[in-house]
Amino acid sequence: MTSFQGKVVAITGGASGIGLATAKILASRGATVCLADINQGGLDDAVKALAAIGGGKHTAQIVDVGDSEVVTAWINKIVSDHGKLDGAANLAGMVRVQREIKDETDEAWAKTMHINADGVFYCLRAELNVMREGGSIVSAGSVAGQVGFVGLGAYCASKAAVNLLTKTAAREHPIIRVNAVSPGATATPMVAAMEAEYGHEQPTAAACIKRKADPSEIAQGIVFLLSDDASFVTGTVISLDGGWQA
Ligand SMILES: NC(=O)c1ccc[n+]([C@@H]2O[C@H](COP(=O)([O-])OP(=O)(O)OC[C@H]3O[C@@H](n4cnc5c(N)ncnc54)[C@H](O)[C@@H]3O)[C@@H](O)[C@H]2O)c1
Repeated sequence: MTSFQGKVVAITGGASGIGLATAKILASRGATVCLADINQGGLDDAVKALAAIGGGKHTAQIVDVGDSEVVTAWINKIVSDHGKLDGAANLAGMVRVQREIKDETDEAWAKTMHINADGVFYCLRAELNVMREGGSIVSAGSVAGQVGFVGLGAYCASKAAVNLLTKTAAREHPIIRVNAVSPGATATPMVAAMEAEYGHEQPTAAACIKRKADPSEIAQGIVFLLSDDASFVTGTVISLDGGWQA
């Protein structure tokens, strides 16, 4: 296992699900983790959990990834507090009530694109401006950014945008590795909320492994991409989807 001792890693969406699972692994390997989220209670619990695990002096801050000035100020503050930013995981995201494209509202389309696509763009821009050679950025795409899902047009489009922003950033900044992960259905509060709303489990029949991932299974892939073990991996979208696209 590669050590993250002395490394500073920023994580959006760090109060819950895949972001929190990623933070826990990084803390266990010695990193200083800087969490951002819009969920204050979740951030408070997360920082306590990370402190109990170990690593550096972890921090948490309310940051709405849809606010570019707030995102830039947060990333710049990390660098002024810690002297550097080694890694970043852009994992904040949301999914809205499912509607087919013919019924989709302007508001739901705009909100989904704003948080999932604009939000990753704001983070990437701020991170690329401060990271030094050897830095690594990982953003959350989705299997829904690679294949279409009925009723998830806005979400699919927002995640496809993450994939191509990732590839473009990698070409523009070869000294920094920039990748995305493409998770399949994962047992997080986001999916639990969808399941409660629709009254049935998220279907996994399309995958080879017919179950939801545990968030830690996605986090392991993100941590690999953040680590020096992935020193020749950039500009790619790694599928962590139980074979959904096999
Ligand atoms: N769970 C899945 O099945 C799945 C599958 C593919 C991709 N993803 C993606 O993985 C990422 C993590 O999702 P998750 O399943 O862990 O969900 P989650 O809801 O457990 O965690 C997402 C976190 O993002 C935060 N967030 C939402 N909007 C924000 C904003 N504007 N600014 C800052 N933080 C914000 C939430 O408060 C939450 O803590 C998301 O980008 C999601 O789209 C999830």
